[in-house]
Amino acid sequence: MNEKSSGSFIVAVDGPAGTGKSSATKRIADLLGLIHVDTGALYRGVAYLCIEAGFDLNFDESDHGAITKIAQKAQLEFRRMKNRNPANRLFVNGKDVTTQIRSPELSLMASKVSAIPEVRGALKELQRTLGASAPSILEGRDIGTVIFPQANLKFFLTASIDERAKRRLSEIEAQGGDSLSFEEMREQIRIRDEGDMNRAIAPLKKAEDAIEIDTTLFTLDQVVEKMAALIQEKRR
Ligand code: DC
Repeated sequence: MNEKSSGSFIVAVDGPAGTGKSSATKRIADLLGLIHVDTGALYRGVAYLCIEAGFDLNFDESDHGAITKIAQKAQLEFRRMKNRNPANRLFVNGKDVTTQIRSPELSLMASKVSAIPEVRGALKELQRTLGASAPSILEGRDIGTVIFPQANLKFFLTASIDERAKRRLSEIEAQGGDSLSFEEMREQIRIRDEGDMNRAIAPLKKAEDAIEIDTTLFTLDQVVEKMAALIQEKRR
């Protein structure tokens, strides 16, 4: 499917981990009636299946074929369940893995499997289908550059690494996940940034026509307000 064919309204939000992308896009989706698509969760879903199949962070190129097969065969589905928190759940081959995919190990594994070009290829159509089904806001690393280069509006969120580590820690704490120390989290984010920005295919980078917002000194409310106003203006 071509991203232009649906004629749907699409907002692309990219940026590194911990910039507030998820929190902001979820809020904006509710506020403006857009479908929220967390594309990172799809890579995490594939990483979950890889770990389940016995792979760990030390996998190498000789494993790429097997990992690609896992990604190609994976059934990844978002389901909205109003009585659950978070309401938007990820089901992988029929199993709800929403909580499991947020662990620190899964974060690194997702970053690593996402560097395999065939894995990215396997998830491309799904992301386009999800985004094109209705007016949507998609968050990820390459939405504005690769998945929906013709998006109606593109944002690129940034924040200092210390602030991002702080945010990720409170996010995990709020979800009751395993906690790391501040230094460990900072180091993990640094490793992920490095991997995500330097991979050969679809590296994390700002699309030329994206609006960059440094969220370090803004509250979530301020970021949401700013982005929502720009989206509303574009939608008119
Ligand atoms: O957004 P997140 O932290 O849940 O993403 C997990 C990993 O998935 C991230 O480190 C890189 C990868 N990812 C990607 O390569 N492209 C996307 N569009 C979204 C995530």
